[in-house]
Amino acid sequence: MTLSIRQIHPVFVGEVTGVDLTRALTESERAAIEAGMDRYAVLVFPGQNITDDQQMAFTKNFGAIELARGGNITKDHELRLKQGMIDVSNLDKEGKPLPRDDRRRMFNLGNRLWHSDSSFRAIPAKYSILSARTVASQGGNTEFADMRAAYDTLDEATRAMSEDLVCEHSLIYSRGSMGFTELTEEERAFMKPVRQRLVRTHPVTGRKSLYLSSHAGTIVGWQMPEARDLLRDLNEHATQRENVYIHDWRQYDLVMWDNRQTMHRVRRFDESQPRDMRRTTVAGEAMTAEQAAAA
Ligand SMILES: [Fe+2]
Repeated sequence: MTLSIRQIHPVFVGEVTGVDLTRALTESERAAIEAGMDRYAVLVFPGQNITDDQQMAFTKNFGAIELARGGNITKDHELRLKQGMIDVSNLDKEGKPLPRDDRRRMFNLGNRLWHSDSSFRAIPAKYSILSARTVASQGGNTEFADMRAAYDTLDEATRAMSEDLVCEHSLIYSRGSMGFTELTEEERAFMKPVRQRLVRTHPVTGRKSLYLSSHAGTIVGWQMPEARDLLRDLNEHATQRENVYIHDWRQYDLVMWDNRQTMHRVRRFDESQPRDMRRTTVAGEAMTAEQAAAA
């Protein structure tokens, strides 16, 4: 079996065949996947029927696993999956779809906004790896936007203005924009805003990209309305159709994306049926900006 990658979108995204992710990767397979990520930013691996342990082992080829702490309002005793796995299904601990008015469901609706995973962490995520165990009967596509193309196609003046800006990211901002504002003191404390550069440079390819996310709520040194105005404009620019890939999930697809170079969002689906999607995350290696001194 020989690993090969075929580009499936005019701008980015590769489809990977000739590799079995239930087994340990060879060094040449690992290197080919990492090089594919640098080049395509999103890789689709069809037909990978893997267990949680196999998914975590695969993830560790690319760095340390980022733990879920501080990323959700779901309490430890409510978790369906073991540590290291992030549950992005619509299911409770017993495997039943969450009731319509469940607070966890309301919080998770924030995944339908364009975002980059963990941009609310001081050291944000490198890769996310999402395995489709049970797909939605209707809807539930995931869309990806190439943020290198977003940067490359900015007009000269906007690019120059964006170059050294620093944004504040927090779950308070993304959930707030959905009208989800009732948070406990404890939740507010772990959602404290962090700072991220608006323009990032890829450590391997040197390509620049816009680092946007629904978690970005303001710009350091700017008034919030003017910051929101610019961020809204940049998001609209970044998610133009030609720079967006729509993934229509089949069971056992595994999709891997680089959060430093892309944004994504999930679309509405029939929530009366189980949609079992399981994520692992490769932790990032460094902060993108200096953090504010603690108050
Ligand atoms: Fe996400």
